[in-house]
Amino acid sequence: MNVLVIGGAGYIGSHIVYELIDNGHSVTVLDNLSTGLKENVCPGADLVIGDMQDLTLVQNLLSGKKNRKFDSVFHFAALKAAGESMTEPKKYTHNNTIATLNLLNVLLENDIKNFVFSSSAATYGSPEYLPIDESHPNKPINYYGYTKLAIEQTLAWYSQLKGLRYAALRYFNAAGYDIEGRIRGKEQNPANLLPIVMEVAAGDRNTMQIYGKNYPTRDGTCIRDYIHVKDLATAHVKAMEFLRDKNEDLVLNLATGQGFTVLEVIKEVEKVVGFPINYEITSRREGDPAELVAASSLAREKIDWKAQYSDLNTLVKSMWKIYRT
Ligand code: UFG
Repeated sequence: MNVLVIGGAGYIGSHIVYELIDNGHSVTVLDNLSTGLKENVCPGADLVIGDMQDLTLVQNLLSGKKNRKFDSVFHFAALKAAGESMTEPKKYTHNNTIATLNLLNVLLENDIKNFVFSSSAATYGSPEYLPIDESHPNKPINYYGYTKLAIEQTLAWYSQLKGLRYAALRYFNAAGYDIEGRIRGKEQNPANLLPIVMEVAAGDRNTMQIYGKNYPTRDGTCIRDYIHVKDLATAHVKAMEFLRDKNEDLVLNLATGQGFTVLEVIKEVEKVVGFPINYEITSRREGDPAELVAASSLAREKIDWKAQYSDLNTLVKSMWKIYRT
């Protein structure tokens, strides 16, 4: 298929581009390189440097006047720092909501009916039961999660009213790097746990903070469900092919069903790198639920997907290969 990947130079997007090309699809990347890296774009993809908020550019690309028409569009170009979304909501309204709604209208105008959306577990908010399944109530506790939910709701309406076929993929904690080591550019100023532990291990920062050790978990630190980007990538390609072959939308959790505490993650990194990681325990970070673990049985049923590379050791090793250099 001929695919446009918006945000295809970013951390998750760049991994999906490799997976699409590995599976024989043609890819064009649209990225403004605000956080994405040119070097992470698969050489087999065409790169258009530009902003998805530039409606004329998006119109031109999707109309197919200057290029081959796209069969499917993937969208990863969003802001994702939950904490920042609470203090600077306007940025998130513009980037995540308005730009995406405009994009969806351009898709419909150009009769492109296959859309894969990078959603998030942040749509659920604090878990009312575990593991979280797709029927869990959506009550986001940060504005970032709300922006993802707002788009999911519009997608459901556009599906019903205009026949747009979509996959909303709700990731849990994405981590890891390309198993074959082809993606080498590191995320700049990361806010997530694993890249921060890696930066300490690599000597790029002296220490790190663990946000709270008084949660009701086995060691007092928060539990998360870590999913390898390679597994996310496989799911995205399968989801796109499902939309092509079946007249049905998808809303799926992408997770492993197994949770690890912050301290367990740090211990695994210590095992892989062979020396201790310097950290200090500080107070809780606002908006952190004690435990987030998801059921992914629906993804297995619908697209025959199951995480294969997400055991903590494989995941950490794939990151250390990049960070140690
Ligand atoms: N943590 C630390 N120290 C750090 C960074 C993180 O202790 O320096 C802890 C956090 O408090 C949390 C855990 O590590 O308990 C994981 O935190 P992350 O920031 O890596 O990830 P989150 O679970 O907060 O959020 C991530 C994505 C969101 C997504 C969510 C879904 O960043 O976009 O997973 O589960 F919505």
